[in-house]
Amino acid sequence: MSGEKVILKVENLTKKFGGVTAVNQVSFDVKEGEIFAVIGPNGAGKTTLFNMITGVLPVSAGEVFFENKKLTRKKPYQIAKAGITRTFQNLEVFSNMSVIENVMTGAHLTMKTNLLTAGLRLPSVTKEELKIMELAMECLDRVGISHLAHELSITLPYGNQRLLEIARAAASNPKLILLDEPMAGLNPEESRKLVDVILKMRADGMTFVFVEHDMETVMSISDRIVVVDNGVKIGEGTPDEIYQNPKVVAAYLGDEEEEEVFA
Ligand SMILES: Nc1ncnc2c1ncn2[C@@H]1O[C@H](COP(=O)(O)OP(=O)(O)O)[C@@H](O)[C@H]1O
Ligand SMILES: [Mg+2]
Repeated sequence: MSGEKVILKVENLTKKFGGVTAVNQVSFDVKEGEIFAVIGPNGAGKTTLFNMITGVLPVSAGEVFFENKKLTRKKPYQIAKAGITRTFQNLEVFSNMSVIENVMTGAHLTMKTNLLTAGLRLPSVTKEELKIMELAMECLDRVGISHLAHELSITLPYGNQRLLEIARAAASNPKLILLDEPMAGLNPEESRKLVDVILKMRADGMTFVFVEHDMETVMSISDRIVVVDNGVKIGEGTPDEIYQNPKVVAAYLGDEEEEEVFA
């Protein structure tokens, strides 16, 4: 369960694209061991928020702290090294690599060896490579697809490619994983599998922040939820609190019934 230690602090984070403010002074704290959801309509700024936290996009204003250290304006690889990794809204597996090779690229993010020195095949590197392969296999095992290690990634069904992405994220030995719409495109059985993996990894100490449209999943696995609309945070709380927040209901509802929103 979630402790009280804040692991990620987002403070007045702001992103402007020309005249458009995609993220407008958003602040929230994520506690260690939490499953924390970011929800909001399309275009609300959720992916942009992730892009700023992971250093993919420079912030226009505001700060990101991870374990009390300022990460703002650090490079993506430095942020990965600090212990934050992510998956992308659109599947980004290397389709021409085997499943295990994909996961090994995740491990390379934080290992001593980089792909260049690995290419030289020095004896010390070979040892390191073996270690990386073992670690990759462990990560595949954690998401339940180690039996597919030597398949070509492109041949995997969509749900397994999502699990592969999570295994690759886990291979960089993160403390926090950001998932951008992990359930998108999955059938109910695949979604259940993914939920099980997330819950199991959390039980082992992982912290998750995820963007998701599937409200059933959001409401059932999140400890806390932040709601953004038009770049602005309009609500924060437990699933019960969000469900009863009039601002949130109004932003999502339009003319429809409340039940349909969270159905
Ligand atoms: N690289 C970019 N350049 C310009 N505008 C962008 C860029 N990325 C996102 N936006 C705009 O920022 C807003 C928020 O987008 P996004 O973060 O993708 O929303 P969400 O993930 O919540 O659907 C949208 O209006 C989108 O068009
Ligand atoms: Mg998005």
